[in-house]
Amino acid sequence: MALHVTPDGLTGHERPKGLYSHWVFRIWMLAIRQVLSQDMVGKAVQVRGWIYRTRSSGGIVFSVLRDSTGIVQVTVKKDSVPEAEFESATKAGIESSVMIEGTLAEDKRAPGGFEIRASRFQLVGLAEPFPITEYQSTELLLDLRHLWIRSREQTAVMKTKAALLRGAREWFYENGYTEVTPPIITGVAPEDSTQLFQVKYFDRIAYLSQSAQFYLESLIFSCEKVWSLTPSFRAEKSRTPRHLAEFWHLEMEAAWLTNEENMGVQEQLLTAMLHNAADECADELKMLKRDPATLKKIEPPFDRMKYAEAMDYLQGKGLNVMWGSDLGAVEERELTKDRDIPLFIVNYPKELKPFYMKENQDDPRTYKNTDLLAPEGFGEIIGGSERETDHKLILERLAEKGEGPENYGWYMDLRKYGSVPHSGFGMGMERIVTWVCKLDHIRDAIAYPRTVARVYP
Ligand code: 4AD
Ligand code: MG
Repeated sequence: MALHVTPDGLTGHERPKGLYSHWVFRIWMLAIRQVLSQDMVGKAVQVRGWIYRTRSSGGIVFSVLRDSTGIVQVTVKKDSVPEAEFESATKAGIESSVMIEGTLAEDKRAPGGFEIRASRFQLVGLAEPFPITEYQSTELLLDLRHLWIRSREQTAVMKTKAALLRGAREWFYENGYTEVTPPIITGVAPEDSTQLFQVKYFDRIAYLSQSAQFYLESLIFSCEKVWSLTPSFRAEKSRTPRHLAEFWHLEMEAAWLTNEENMGVQEQLLTAMLHNAADECADELKMLKRDPATLKKIEPPFDRMKYAEAMDYLQGKGLNVMWGSDLGAVEERELTKDRDIPLFIVNYPKELKPFYMKENQDDPRTYKNTDLLAPEGFGEIIGGSERETDHKLILERLAEKGEGPENYGWYMDLRKYGSVPHSGFGMGMERIVTWVCKLDHIRDAIAYPRTVARVYP
């Protein structure tokens, strides 16, 4: 990194792009990841962050410092820093916040192969004894979630999620989609009406959104191709490693799009997201034991299997399923455990899916719909379909479900004023993150998981 003269004439390192952009004292404050390089050896560096580990022995404190980009070893020698600062270094326990100035040296034993030999050690916020130590129960880590999210694994997961989302946002932008902002407080139940959260809305009852789909369907008449990222809520009583009560839902809807084309959008969008995460977060992914190359290998087209074929396949594997059986975690796992690219299951029986899907004329027992299953046994990540445009058919299906059409008045209007063929889908961001980051449980794919048992912290 070249030397650089700051506006008031003091020298420092070249201003880092994207990460920290200000300088403190005589030199640019650097992100730890920027410090860890051969070119920096022998140079003065300044970093700040939190104590990750620390021990002292004789006149030396050995600490490891972390920031959002990585960790670096720091040695503080009694006679190399002002006396009061050495004392601070000896008492700065785990998670104390500090600023350090020193010289970078190579050290093969240190994490990353380098260490900073401190000339200054400034204690910013002394930490009380940190309540999280090495072996903790899952419950305790959930109670202390506000502190546990500092862990390197959690940081890596959050960064990967952000990279996936950036990949999506860019793909939508490049492909002419408009980002829209549908409501969260609603009066409709696009999915299972038994899983609605009620909210007291002034003097009546409203619901938290399960899906933005109906609103997106209305917005295609103005913007044609739309997408949104919103929280969705499902009052799912089942405690499973793939269900949250609140999840981030990335949804798309487009006018004139067939079910077949809808699959093409899913393939391209997901590929763009995975490739962006593999590029932006290679180190984070490796730390999570996901080889970024496995994501780079994923390219359209994905495999497709009809629901009927899936039933045959599963029966062949000895599973007790038949026409009309839903695909749960076990079945989805069986279908994908040996695959390394996602799999579309198409044309589900009508009784398994919501009323708004388009009938499949080639087999009227089924809809023109798809579930996209992640590889390696991770299960459903996207649900999508072409939408029914026949007003009469929708009314019949609502009646069959015992639902009054009155709640769907505005939705039915969309079929009355210039209806067009259209399709869309919803992707569960935490489902994608669980798979990409190889997590055992979906709660680790979100900073503050909301489940049946938990709204704290
Ligand atoms: O399959 P779902 O229920 O489909 C819909 O909501 C459609 N209205 C979407 C649309 O077409 N616009 O949900 C879509 C996706 C699922 O594939 C799954 O990834 C995720 O949302 N999902 C959940 N993720 C975490 N926890 C839950 N309880 C989830 N329920 C659905
Ligand atoms: Mg689904």
